[in-house]
Amino acid sequence: MRNRILILDFGSQFTQLIARRIREERVYCEIHPPTVTVDWIRDWDPAGVVLSGGPSSVYDDDVPMADPALLDAGIPVLGICYGMQMIAHLSGGRVVPGKREYGRAELQVGRASDLFDGFVPGERATVWASHGDHVQEAPPGFTSLASTADLPVASFRAQDRPVFGVQFHPEVAHTPRGDEIISNFLFRICGCEPDWTAGSFIEQAVVRVREQVGEAHVICGLSGGVDSSVAAALVHHAIGDQLTCIFVDTGLLRMNERESVERTFRRHLGIELVVVDAADQFLGRLRGVEEPEDKRRRIGETFIRVFEQAATDAGRDARFLVQGTLYPDVIESVSVRGPSAVIKTHHNVGGLPADMRFQLIEPLRELFKDEVRQVGRELGLPEEVVGRHPFPGPGLAIRVLGDVTPARLAMLREADAIYLEEIQAAGLYADIWQAFAVLLPVRSVGVMGDARTYEHVVALRAVTSRDGMTADWFPYPPDVLGRISSRIINEVAGVNRVCYDVSSKPPATIEWE
Ligand code: XMP
Repeated sequence: MRNRILILDFGSQFTQLIARRIREERVYCEIHPPTVTVDWIRDWDPAGVVLSGGPSSVYDDDVPMADPALLDAGIPVLGICYGMQMIAHLSGGRVVPGKREYGRAELQVGRASDLFDGFVPGERATVWASHGDHVQEAPPGFTSLASTADLPVASFRAQDRPVFGVQFHPEVAHTPRGDEIISNFLFRICGCEPDWTAGSFIEQAVVRVREQVGEAHVICGLSGGVDSSVAAALVHHAIGDQLTCIFVDTGLLRMNERESVERTFRRHLGIELVVVDAADQFLGRLRGVEEPEDKRRRIGETFIRVFEQAATDAGRDARFLVQGTLYPDVIESVSVRGPSAVIKTHHNVGGLPADMRFQLIEPLRELFKDEVRQVGRELGLPEEVVGRHPFPGPGLAIRVLGDVTPARLAMLREADAIYLEEIQAAGLYADIWQAFAVLLPVRSVGVMGDARTYEHVVALRAVTSRDGMTADWFPYPPDVLGRISSRIINEVAGVNRVCYDVSSKPPATIEWE
């Protein structure tokens, strides 16, 4: 048995949260589609399996079901919400249909052992439960562990096998003691060891990268963002000067970005860095292009051509390209298209061409963003790199809305630098997931001195988020917004209006294009 947990994803909006909670307990876990067979699971050799919640009802046609043999495989299983209903249904219990809604409920613990170790019998605890289908009666051979006013069997276990269910969501913050329940499952029931740390990840990743590349030469497109910086530092740690980092000055970078990347990587970390000035190439390909996806495709393709040329120029025949793909991108494509699906690889630089000559190395593809930051710190990257807000591969091209010209880029760059400087000065940078300025493709009327102006509009975006999948706009103190606005309007020639974007994601996205 390996010290890791398998999560089968039945489509719950909380599946990623389950994974995060387990990782926070320092146990490695992966999310896989529900269609895997029990033989596949045995081969994967988990210490335990979590069946996630999901939008289905066990009574629907063609609903995803776990392989029934899993419940007899001797592997500990925890079903959450739909996962528990499925266990009940497969084991001859009674599931009562209903309409799915979520809300707080008061759990009364019956048996304070197993999952509820550390609770007191009869104790009440707040949980976040779904008021929908529910298990009305535990299946034969199962014991009820807890109830709520609406759920006669809010949790159960099989008497003769380590099979458990909870009808509420221990993974969400609205279940305050959910982490104890998860930790009981991991450590008491599955016998896991808390060994998943940034240090242990680095050790394993180093071995894997060495095995994958052998003696070959590797290049890494460094954008200066967190993901590619950590990926580069990790691969450098593994293979030293078999790695060449290529930093492409696309002409789409932020103020002073090139200098700061050169300083960090070449001087601080001693990593070989080739800087390619390809601004003309990128801006040429983008001339007159307004459609966002078209911009991304052109940028992605230009990146690869520039890398290929730079690798050849560096006199090294590189076969591998390092990419900072993260776990959320991997999960998205796995759960939608099944286990053998091709993983989305475009997110770093936009659409990669199919005929590129590199094989990809994606050393961070098991990690969430906060884990990437921990790995970066462990590798000795400075806080100014590790704590940096994410920056998209296509750069300012997707923040200059509409036509991307040198003049419009320069205007945005100045506004963005003032914006970030003021956030830093206000001590708010670390409270914000991502903040940036956007240049809108409209002009508006203003008055400056006694004259009418007809100039550009800058929108400010700032969001809080855990992982970029959902986001809320950041509530700035009004004086901070006021200061940013007056500085931009006074200092950036050509801008006479500043707006603040108060949209959450969904339904908006973080970037405007
Ligand atoms: P959205 O705009 O989709 O962005 O809400 C979510 C996060 O992803 C970043 N982003 C990108 N990163 N290439 C990237 O490397 C891209 O094409 C791209 N588009 C969006 C965005 O900055 C945010 O952090």
